[in-house]
Amino acid sequence: MNRTEKLLSQMTLAEKLGQLTMTAAGYAVTGPVIAGDSTEAIKSGAIGNLLNLVGPGPVREMQQLAVEHSRLKIPLLIGLDIIHGHRTLFPIPLAEAALFDPQTWEATAREAAREGAADGLAMTFSPMLDVSRDIRWGRTAEGSGEDTWVAVHMARAKVKGYEGSDLKAADSLAACAKHYCAYAPVLAGREYASVDISARTLLEVHVPPFDAAVAAGVATIMPAFTDLDGVPMTANKKLLRHHLRNQLGFQGVIVSDYNAIAELMHHGIAADLAEAAALALNASVDIDMMADAYRKGLPVALERGLVTMALIDESVLRVLQLKERLGLFDDPYRRGTQQEAPAVLTRRRDLCRSVGARSIVMLKNDRDTLPLRGTLRRVSVIGPLADAAIEMGGCWGAAGKPEDRVSVVAGLRSAAPGKDIVHAPGVAFVGGDESGISAAVDLCNDADAVVLCIGEKADMSGEAASRAFPEVPPLQRTLAEAVFERAHAKGLRVVVVLFSGRPLVIPWLAEKADALLAAWFLGNEAGNAIADVVLGRTSPSGRTPMSWPRAIGQIPLFYGERPGGRPFNPKDHFTSHYMDVSNDPLYPFGHGLTYGRCSLASLVVSSDRVSEKDTLEVRVDVTNQGAYLAEETVFLFIHDKVASVTRPVLELKGVGKVTLRPGETKTVRMTVPGTEFRFLGMDLTPVFEPGEVEVLVGPCADRSQLLLQTIRLVS
Ligand code: BGC
Repeated sequence: MNRTEKLLSQMTLAEKLGQLTMTAAGYAVTGPVIAGDSTEAIKSGAIGNLLNLVGPGPVREMQQLAVEHSRLKIPLLIGLDIIHGHRTLFPIPLAEAALFDPQTWEATAREAAREGAADGLAMTFSPMLDVSRDIRWGRTAEGSGEDTWVAVHMARAKVKGYEGSDLKAADSLAACAKHYCAYAPVLAGREYASVDISARTLLEVHVPPFDAAVAAGVATIMPAFTDLDGVPMTANKKLLRHHLRNQLGFQGVIVSDYNAIAELMHHGIAADLAEAAALALNASVDIDMMADAYRKGLPVALERGLVTMALIDESVLRVLQLKERLGLFDDPYRRGTQQEAPAVLTRRRDLCRSVGARSIVMLKNDRDTLPLRGTLRRVSVIGPLADAAIEMGGCWGAAGKPEDRVSVVAGLRSAAPGKDIVHAPGVAFVGGDESGISAAVDLCNDADAVVLCIGEKADMSGEAASRAFPEVPPLQRTLAEAVFERAHAKGLRVVVVLFSGRPLVIPWLAEKADALLAAWFLGNEAGNAIADVVLGRTSPSGRTPMSWPRAIGQIPLFYGERPGGRPFNPKDHFTSHYMDVSNDPLYPFGHGLTYGRCSLASLVVSSDRVSEKDTLEVRVDVTNQGAYLAEETVFLFIHDKVASVTRPVLELKGVGKVTLRPGETKTVRMTVPGTEFRFLGMDLTPVFEPGEVEVLVGPCADRSQLLLQTIRLVS
């Protein structure tokens, strides 16, 4: 018997249920304030896991209760939502996705893990791997956007970054792949609503990132709040027990979402807590977060014969094994004992700044409005998001502190010390008060440049932040229109810095702005990162990981749709189109400008015949004809022309990145293993079908901008 098995054999039912329970612990500056009887419950072994503790002091204090006062001295598993950084908030995941750079995704996760672990934590509820194609859904901000290939690579990078090479290490955290599965396609983009998608969409689009996380060794998985075709994920035996456990061999811990087990009663599949608890446990959910359904419901479920002790034991063992893997039994205080050196913090801030600058997507730059050059005496920075340091963090703050965040005004002031950086918010985030607009607009009178900072407030995206009108709020639009009018009348160009946790519907803004930067929420260093781009210290290189719709009615809009039997033909009315708006996005997936002028030429494929065992190599030359150093991103899509089931018009299969000096040409190489040409056949199992496939390479998912080679798949 090993240590965990031995412990299990000594446990009472109450102690076992304690290991299957995770509750929140509030904290105050002077120490932890634990709700209700948690302190006693930890001592008695009735609570084995905590969430929402911040700071090494409170974490240690709680851990002590468990390891020094409880009968079996089992350490607590303590987790927090470290979504995009712990103390150092990096860009939100959607912003980071714009880098299309797994190495950087891994690096920021590694730093977040180090910081979180230095605070004594052992687990993060991240990464979120939900593929989102509906910008109404607020949690779009927490994921990597609309594409499955990107989410798969994000999954691998983040798991590796958080968990490091050894989960036992004092700077590693257990990652949590969430929310399994297909949480994003909630009905009409409305948070927590029902999900009803085809088995094909589930398997092609939503499952692969989680499979990738499991393959990368993710320690834990969280089921989504939602139901899938009538079966709530918290009780979804088919996907949890059958797919994750039996098919993939996932032996890690499945932790419910917040109160999700009790919510099985609201879903209408459990009459009481005992039934709810039994459904979740039978589906193989190990830890009950916040519902207290296992402690209250499982004893009753046992009496009623709804669950077996063997199943309870299996779950307890998985929790104990995770604690063992994390090294908590050997030294429960291994995390949180060493303060990080100031040099480490400085390096992390620098990383935050450079990742921030690289996450910015330059959507438009008419007549080279950006970067701001020449003799700038006065820059007017207008809008409610211009000097709003706190908002820069976006959704999920972890242990980040508002005073560590840099606003746009502060960033510009420190980057351009001699300049007169003047500011007026114009309007507030809430209410309808327009009285500040005229003073703000007057700042255009005597300025050399105008920077307009508008968009969503941080809490307008994230959990429970669905929007039926995913647009710039109306009052800010009124301000913006007034600024455009005055500035343009004076011959001044307007740089718009747009903040949001999702693409917004902004055709009017795209038309009027002279330059438009999607700045998402960039975290602590936002203002410095934005100043770096606006002033030309860094060439923007982000590419949008989601299509930007022209109209709300186009949602869900994504590049990888299937062609349909009547694909749009402008000469034929009876083909797929809207009467009142084009089918095309305002900005396609992958769009993003740089200060360079990059063009692609000479697409070469290593062979025009590819079997499942081959690897296709694709080469393309990229030249920077501009005057600035530029980081260019190249996308490789495929299109299977004729197959047994209809295939998407474009499927992403590779991304290449290259940095080019002015005048420089480099060859970008990307490889596609033959197995990547498989797809799910009629019976939803993978097939490799001989036939023609188009290989398309270019700067974004706009087919007219892609270079094309056709290859033949051979058996
Ligand atoms: C969210 C999860 C999160 C959990 C714990 C829930 O409301 O859906 O993503 O990890 O809370 O904070």
